[in-house]
Amino acid sequence: MLKVLLILAPILAVALTGGAVALAGDLPRMRPTMDFGWRFLLGDPPGAQLADFDDSAWRPVDLPHDWSIFGSFEQTAPAGGGGAYLPAGVGWYRKAFPLPDAFQNRQVQIEFDGVYENSDVWINGHWLGKRPFGYVGFAYDLTPYLHFNQQPNVLAVRVDNSVQPNSRWYSGSGIYRHTWLSVTDPLSIAPAGIYAITPQVSESSATVQIATLVVNNRKSAARFALISTLLDRDGKELRSDRSEGELDAGESGKLTQQVRLEHPHLWSDVTPYLYTLRSTLRLGDETIDQLDTPIGVRSIEFDVDRGFLLNGRQVKLDGVCLHGDGGSVGAAVPEGVWRRRLRLLKEMGCNAIRTSHNPPAPEFLDLCDQLGFLVMDEAFDEWTAGKTLGGYHRFFNDWSQRDLVDFIHRDRNHPCIVLWSAGNEVQEQVLPAGADVLRPLLEAFHREDPTRPVTAACDKLFAQPIGAPPEFPALLDVVGYNYVDRWLDRANTYYSDDRRLFPQRRFIGTESVSMAGIRGDYRALFQNPATQPDVILPDAAQPATTSPAAPRRGFRRLPDDNRRLDVEQLWKFVRAYDYVSGDFMWTGIDYLGEAFWPTRSAPFGVLDTCSFKKDGYYFYQSQWTSTPVLHLFPHWNWRGREGQVIPVTCYTNCDTVELFVNGKSFGIKGYEFPRQGMREDYGIYPPRSRAIRTTSDLHLSWDVPFEPGTLKAVGIRDGTVVATEQIATTGEPAAIALSADNRAPLADGRDVAHLTVQIVDADGQTVPTAGNAIVFDLQGPAQLIGVDNGDPSDHDSFKSNQCKSFNGLCLAIVQTTRSPGTIRISARSGGLRPASVELDSQPAPQTPTIP
Ligand code: GAL
Repeated sequence: MLKVLLILAPILAVALTGGAVALAGDLPRMRPTMDFGWRFLLGDPPGAQLADFDDSAWRPVDLPHDWSIFGSFEQTAPAGGGGAYLPAGVGWYRKAFPLPDAFQNRQVQIEFDGVYENSDVWINGHWLGKRPFGYVGFAYDLTPYLHFNQQPNVLAVRVDNSVQPNSRWYSGSGIYRHTWLSVTDPLSIAPAGIYAITPQVSESSATVQIATLVVNNRKSAARFALISTLLDRDGKELRSDRSEGELDAGESGKLTQQVRLEHPHLWSDVTPYLYTLRSTLRLGDETIDQLDTPIGVRSIEFDVDRGFLLNGRQVKLDGVCLHGDGGSVGAAVPEGVWRRRLRLLKEMGCNAIRTSHNPPAPEFLDLCDQLGFLVMDEAFDEWTAGKTLGGYHRFFNDWSQRDLVDFIHRDRNHPCIVLWSAGNEVQEQVLPAGADVLRPLLEAFHREDPTRPVTAACDKLFAQPIGAPPEFPALLDVVGYNYVDRWLDRANTYYSDDRRLFPQRRFIGTESVSMAGIRGDYRALFQNPATQPDVILPDAAQPATTSPAAPRRGFRRLPDDNRRLDVEQLWKFVRAYDYVSGDFMWTGIDYLGEAFWPTRSAPFGVLDTCSFKKDGYYFYQSQWTSTPVLHLFPHWNWRGREGQVIPVTCYTNCDTVELFVNGKSFGIKGYEFPRQGMREDYGIYPPRSRAIRTTSDLHLSWDVPFEPGTLKAVGIRDGTVVATEQIATTGEPAAIALSADNRAPLADGRDVAHLTVQIVDADGQTVPTAGNAIVFDLQGPAQLIGVDNGDPSDHDSFKSNQCKSFNGLCLAIVQTTRSPGTIRISARSGGLRPASVELDSQPAPQTPTIP
């Protein structure tokens, strides 16, 4: 049956795609990578856009590439602490490539997943366009300008990141995300032309509704069929819908189809089941386009009383905010680095991520789909009013609608995304015309994706006349609160007053204080001898401070910041009240930038920049998971402090814990309230046994006079020992222990292995204070792409083969080349027994590549 096509608009020459998979070379659509074989220059030479410009002296690079991360940390860097004191400036990229003659009658586009920032692109000397926003994907049509018959084509990209500072966090500089060539028939599915939603979902059935935009760039009208097929996880075809359409030359039109599934596998944070939507375009018997889109079948709702509902079930968003850098690799983050980081967060019990404060890399969202994270996808940190001199406010009026629409189109098929965010702590919250700036953004979200609610992360919603005009939050589908603990100034009431004032409001904590701190750094324990041990905040719980007592670690501190108390009180509240959908703590992982010299990264994470776990990690794990967690800190290497009282803290979800010091019991402690179902009236529950000292905190603690030896904690649930943890005083550093997380990486020039160095004593115990300098040697088809130790004040280069260990640990990240083989990495340090590991990189499946 011929469906009447709605003719939407003249063809857009520029658009973007997202989430597509690489297809084999013989299929009608190809998406070869353009990442390999570029040349780069840090500088701005005249004429570099011209095809015959001589770039032979430029440095050969592969993408993704971040030039800032190769620089040195300088206090005077124009990007300042926001940019991690690393260099920015102007840089150029050029790539010369012949194309197969078979592409002559094809539609060829170049796709950039992200260029930071202000890029201009030329092909064979023709200017294709400009894109200021550094976090949005974009594409240009190359078709009219291409050369064939073995003649090279030359792409030239100028990246201008010179107006500084332009970001409050580290952005990196350059073509820091992937690039692709999209090669299709002139009659094809339009870029980002597929939009699949699930308007009806239940355990017994679901409807998948698909809108497909088809574009006819052929010279004549075309009559075609569109078949949309759902495949299960194993590639088995389940159901399809077929439609026919006709388009005149130069027209585009949208077809809407439906596929019904019986007993669908529902996508959730626990069971992230993905179907494949296969869209096939046929001209007679010939398949002229085919595109696979991973989709999830799930329903979402933010309910006024019940909070967030996934497939009708209440799910609390146990969330973290994440910036986009990957530590030592800067902004050019291999997927394997994110995979490791996200798995660690998953293991912590985290089920939700806020992409603060910009659109993330497309593959980041693919991983969230696959691993089961619920994502709040954020667009901007600035609207019309700036936060930094060169920030997005300069582009907002001209570009925000286009950036927003492209962003929504790129991301709206991801089942992981459950909430859009229009912005973070924008000044417009308190500006008289703020609602007028918000309204068109909301309209764009609602128009382009009516299936998801929109929030904004607000930090100024307190009462009039100081705070936000009521129309600003009233416009939001879900009201996002940043730091209710910080600015509401209503101890322990958090959202209650607003709930009373605005009974129809939907609530979410878009950002809140976390158990931040510097991994393994317990100096705060001894900074103020007048303070009671119980309220001294060790390591993860230590307040950030700029006090002269700790000048080296200085970063912003809020007055009266009792971090652990704030975090615990907040989480008790969030758990207790259904109407609070959840919370995103600041942050899951330490990030580069937002630093104050001499620090160059922000230690707000519960994983450091190497993704080594801090003590705070176990706090969240004890709250967000039910498998037994038992974690003790600090370490027990306090020689010279014999007899001095050390507060020993335990994060646990056991009912009770008994602490032993060198075999002697220091008593059993437990919680005063059941772990689930805590309410404002928690604390009314009597202690379970008089022998147990109980607390209404979310941690247990003992004051222990130091004596060398062993601390041992035994965790009990329902009368049974379910966990034990032991910390011993170690000997001096004696050897290096080296381990790899991925012994068989793919030889695709992208895959990575993380090599962890532990400095151990003669008994193999990690020495928690060790700072030995490590030298890495690498042989075989791989390169070292980053070394780091998690110390926010370390100014050594990430791009070296040397790294000081920090509190016993350091990390090297190794990336494969495109040749398989044995990779040997060894680690040495004067006076320590060296160590080495071997990796075997595996032949990678062929993917189309433009060399
Ligand atoms: C928030 C802001 C974040 C970060 C954080 C540091 O107010 O949204 O981007 O700056 O403070 O505490």
